[in-house]
Amino acid sequence: MEAIQMSDFTKLTDFTPKHQHRAYVNSAVRFHTPCTKEDRLAAAIKAGWNVFQFPSKYTVGDFLSDSGTTTPTIEQLAASLLGDEAYGTNWGYEQLLEQFEKTFGITLLGDHAEWEIFLFHQCRAAEHALFTQIGRGKKNLVIPSNGHFDTTHANIEMNKILALDIPSKEDKNFQGNMDIDKLRDGFWKPYQVPMVFCTITNNTMAGQPVSLENIAAISDACQTYKKPFFLDACRFAENAWFIKENEHSELTIPEIVHKTFSYCDGFTISLKKDGLANMGGALCVKKGTVLFNEYPDILDNLRDHQICTEAHPTYGGMSGRDIMIVVEGLKTVITQEYLNSRILQVRAFGDYLDELGIPVVKPFGGHAVYLDIDKFFEGTTMRREDFGGIVLSALLLLNGPRVCELGAFAFGTYDPKTGKETFPPFNYVRIAIPRNKYEIEDLFYAADCIKNLYDKRDQLPRAVCVYGKEKTLRHFKARFELQERK
Ligand code: F0G
Repeated sequence: MEAIQMSDFTKLTDFTPKHQHRAYVNSAVRFHTPCTKEDRLAAAIKAGWNVFQFPSKYTVGDFLSDSGTTTPTIEQLAASLLGDEAYGTNWGYEQLLEQFEKTFGITLLGDHAEWEIFLFHQCRAAEHALFTQIGRGKKNLVIPSNGHFDTTHANIEMNKILALDIPSKEDKNFQGNMDIDKLRDGFWKPYQVPMVFCTITNNTMAGQPVSLENIAAISDACQTYKKPFFLDACRFAENAWFIKENEHSELTIPEIVHKTFSYCDGFTISLKKDGLANMGGALCVKKGTVLFNEYPDILDNLRDHQICTEAHPTYGGMSGRDIMIVVEGLKTVITQEYLNSRILQVRAFGDYLDELGIPVVKPFGGHAVYLDIDKFFEGTTMRREDFGGIVLSALLLLNGPRVCELGAFAFGTYDPKTGKETFPPFNYVRIAIPRNKYEIEDLFYAADCIKNLYDKRDQLPRAVCVYGKEKTLRHFKARFELQERK
């Protein structure tokens, strides 16, 4: 078998795009770091073709994540200058509590506050705190969800709790929903359910929204079986937009958000998504719910955890500046105008990919467009174990766009004893769109680059994992070689 020449990689990515990415729009660094395809190739090989290890300065169109990549608004920047960098109970913290009350419809202030808030530097730190408490001293626990995100899954399983996904695709408009029948059945299994989670929108399931009806049904099942119900609320505002759009709801976005949170006993949130911030996370817990039957001291234990690992409760892992940025972000994110521009841009991008004939997951979610990699390589010799999604994301780097495989490799596992890979039921590449950052032209350029590789799908190499295939969270650590397909 002939080895692939480096020049073959550059040839595969040679084409004339219909659109141009305007690198100067949002990033002076990228604009002032001109680089050739050869520079990118050298950097990609050095990174073991792992997109996370590729220098961002060489990207044009960085779609690795919508998390923490938001361009702050002028209001957010102005507010950040007023950040009060005090060690305890800074001025911004009071505003943050007020804004959480307004945005989520919960009470945090005053003697009759029904909720407690724990700030963290980002959501996974909140997950770590929560699941450490939930798992401590207990056995045979399972936490069902419509779809746990990868770090949520990992934080649950690190605490020896089973993380179970029970999605339902039945409702065409709300393919992020949970399978309520399976949830109800699950309560009777030998495992104990300490809590039920619902991720809005469902990132693992192609960023699809969850209906209010489904959220109400989960809450209802939880009440029947006396189990706490928590939301993973990272993209709560985008989810509310879909509820308004798909259900033709008379309610405003803020009203839908309030209704959503009225069903839950607690929530985790990464403020790096719908907080429109570059840093921040929180865990909010409603007091006096069924959670406290099993975990009477949980609030105190969470406080201790937070103080030991993050900081004083009134700032968590966030600076005064970060807090101010979140305060403003939580105002903007629930406006119809912002959400229209955000989600309709993602949709326009998805429509263009669709017009080009590229297999996309439809309907489009709120924060990303997902490519269906099994369909992308249908009719070619690319097998799942050749990791076509890794190949696509690797070669795209040479044109500038950075995307992320969330499929056979990221969610698959390798068993060193049998030498076999086990694959998830889906195989996606995600093109996550940062908020307030790109113009549609920039996105169309990325689509043109994908189309070029789609047209050459027969000739694309396979990805061979040369480091890390047996590791946990392997997509962050692995290294690959691109080799000729068998
Ligand atoms: N839950 C969901 C649904 C997420 O999408 C993420 C992060 C987290 C929890 C963890 O939040 O990053 O603040 O610790 N998602 C990012 C992504 C990383 O690219 O989808 P975090």
